[in-house]
Amino acid sequence: MVSEPILNTIKAARRIVVFSGAGLSAESGIPTFRDDLVGLWQQYDPEELASSEAFAKDPELVWGWYEWRRSRLAQAQPNAGHIAIAQWQQHYPLTIVTQNVDNLHERAGSYSVIHMHGDLNKAYCSQCKHPHPLVAAPANLPPEGARIQPPQCELCQNWVRPGVVWFGESLIDADLRAAIYAAENCDLVLAIGTSGVVQPAALIPYWAKEKGAIVIQINPNESAIDVVSDFNVRQSAAKVLPFIVQAMGYN
Ligand code: OAD
Repeated sequence: MVSEPILNTIKAARRIVVFSGAGLSAESGIPTFRDDLVGLWQQYDPEELASSEAFAKDPELVWGWYEWRRSRLAQAQPNAGHIAIAQWQQHYPLTIVTQNVDNLHERAGSYSVIHMHGDLNKAYCSQCKHPHPLVAAPANLPPEGARIQPPQCELCQNWVRPGVVWFGESLIDADLRAAIYAAENCDLVLAIGTSGVVQPAALIPYWAKEKGAIVIQINPNESAIDVVSDFNVRQSAAKVLPFIVQAMGYN
């Protein structure tokens, strides 16, 4: 399933960065970002739901979409890929940098995950940025297309917004710095389930490569990461990762 040269490269690595994208969570039933507008949500463009302009125009529509996604995430489970990474991290200090806004790495048992694009289960005030703790996600999936009123900030009473990075927004500085540091100080990047088209996250393999690291990609399809990767494993993450972890003797 994974060739000897790839396994030997992984075995020889001393500082590994796992760089994950939506493909890792696909087999948990969380669609990849570009396939996520299902049912009644299909009538909207992602930019109509995932931007500060959209939120300013219709906060209840945007909050409704995020509550729907949060609720669906609560019903999903980490898959064999997330679990293999968590097992690996128990034996070896992997640095995990994810573009995913889900918490499936953490629910599988991983720690210190750098979320470059934020976290669906976090929220903060759209004006004063004060963090707002969210109650548990709705147990039943809200109807698709349902508008839900966002909570109000306890300090300034303005709308609370999802704690994710939207189109047109900069990444959180601390997360970006942590990701750059990890990339520039590793000797291997495992790019898993990402199309590699969204900047600046997609630069992680490039930053690492410039400092001499090797890049291994796990993705059943071609992607923009192909040009920077030394090895491509064209298979699903949930199949390949348990195999690698077993080959390392870490399960
Ligand atoms: P994409 O939806 O762009 O790409 C998902 C990738 O996963 C594709 O290359 C698929 O071929 C691959 N894939 C699908 N199933 C897989 C499987 N079972 N195993 C491994 N790979 C699989 O998702 P991202 O690259 O994560 O940004 O998207 C990056 C960012 O674009 C997201 O974080 C989001 C979006 O704009 C923000 O939310 C800011």
